[in-house]
Amino acid sequence: MDGIHFADGFDTAERLAFGLGAPQLVTVVAGCLLAFALLHAPLPAAVAVPFAVVLVVVAAALGWLRVAGRPALDWTIFALRHLIGPRRGVLVVTREPHRQPAPAEAGARVHTEGARAPLRDTSCAAAAAPPRHAAASNIIRLPGASSRDATNPSTVRRGARRVVFFSLKGGTGRTTLSTEIAAWAATCDVAKQTVIVDCDLRSACVGTRLGLAHAGIADFAIASPDERRLDAFLTTHRSGLRALLGPSRSTNPDWPVTPPVLREVLRELDLSGASVVIVDVAPEMNALTVAALRAADDIYVVVVPSATGIHDAYRTTEQLRRLGLRDRLGYVVNRADGRVDVSVAMNDLGGQVVAEVPEDVALVDAENSHCPAVLSGRSAAAFELRRFAGVCAPATAAAAR
Ligand SMILES: Nc1ncnc2c1ncn2[C@@H]1O[C@H](COP(=O)(O)OP(=O)(O)O)[C@@H](O)[C@H]1O
Ligand SMILES: [Mg+2]
Repeated sequence: MDGIHFADGFDTAERLAFGLGAPQLVTVVAGCLLAFALLHAPLPAAVAVPFAVVLVVVAAALGWLRVAGRPALDWTIFALRHLIGPRRGVLVVTREPHRQPAPAEAGARVHTEGARAPLRDTSCAAAAAPPRHAAASNIIRLPGASSRDATNPSTVRRGARRVVFFSLKGGTGRTTLSTEIAAWAATCDVAKQTVIVDCDLRSACVGTRLGLAHAGIADFAIASPDERRLDAFLTTHRSGLRALLGPSRSTNPDWPVTPPVLREVLRELDLSGASVVIVDVAPEMNALTVAALRAADDIYVVVVPSATGIHDAYRTTEQLRRLGLRDRLGYVVNRADGRVDVSVAMNDLGGQVVAEVPEDVALVDAENSHCPAVLSGRSAAAFELRRFAGVCAPATAAAAR
């Protein structure tokens, strides 16, 4: 892959001129114009010149200076908003948290080796792990930072843990991981409150993988809003997993399943006591996908270890960061075969690989037999998926205690 620089221009705002984004450029131009006006104002030169110089320097600093990886303009706007807005207490600005890898994350590679152990070594306990968000909560958050912080009780939403596997490239294994993890989480969840929602409307496959057919989210969307009850549209897999299936035909992703419909579904699931909700989405940033991603607590970027797969990981991360979702991201390497090292890309992305699911024919067999590999398989992939389920689905870890 010599000569290919995936990181070129990565994670930077669109630049218009002189390396500046639109807000910074406007600030610099405005500062220069003001300085120019000041120099031509009927003021003594001893006053006008120093003020004009200060104006230009401040404008330039706001344009080009970056503090802790963010433009000084962002910091200034946010501090001003804080000072102007109603507040109590003192102004405390903290840096965006650096996520500490949880033990389960740090040990992901080690566990992958262990994935070749026999089934009796697998247990929910092996998968138990503390939440990934270990850093302290921000007191002031910059624009773009997530408003949700799992370590801060005052900002934690009460309700199900929502998980999305995402990549902009199709065929990376999003549906496979979603259904396998959901099936195992449901098996370990004594309260049977694990739910999978299929929001890939063009190519809904959750039903096929689980061997289920039922009215689903598209039927819910066209039912009368006053009379529809979500329960009537959910079907239950033998693992105890409840599923809101996608349409069997390829459907317009913009209608009838709209972002408000999805938000209603997620709200209903919260109210019904769901513990984990996994949403399978399309490999594109349509409105429904964006709504699912914004609603998610954890987003796992699915990375296939190949040149195009790694390139996709950069593109996907860039899009997710632009949505302000950087603090919810984790990475899952799927179809890992040990031949391509993703660690350079992960360092570059500042990401953590939470699981490495090997290339395994058991997952293809699982698809063709409509039976998740985690439920019956003794394969390496099944072992790693069970471990990973404990990381991303708290009910799985809780059941193990
Ligand atoms: N780890 C794996 N090993 C072998 N086959 C896999 C693995 N992960 C996924 N697959 C297969 O790859 C194909 C695409 O997976 P799928 O989950 O449908 O991708 P996506 O939802 O991202 O489009 C499926 O046939 C699936 O069985
Ligand atoms: Mg899919």
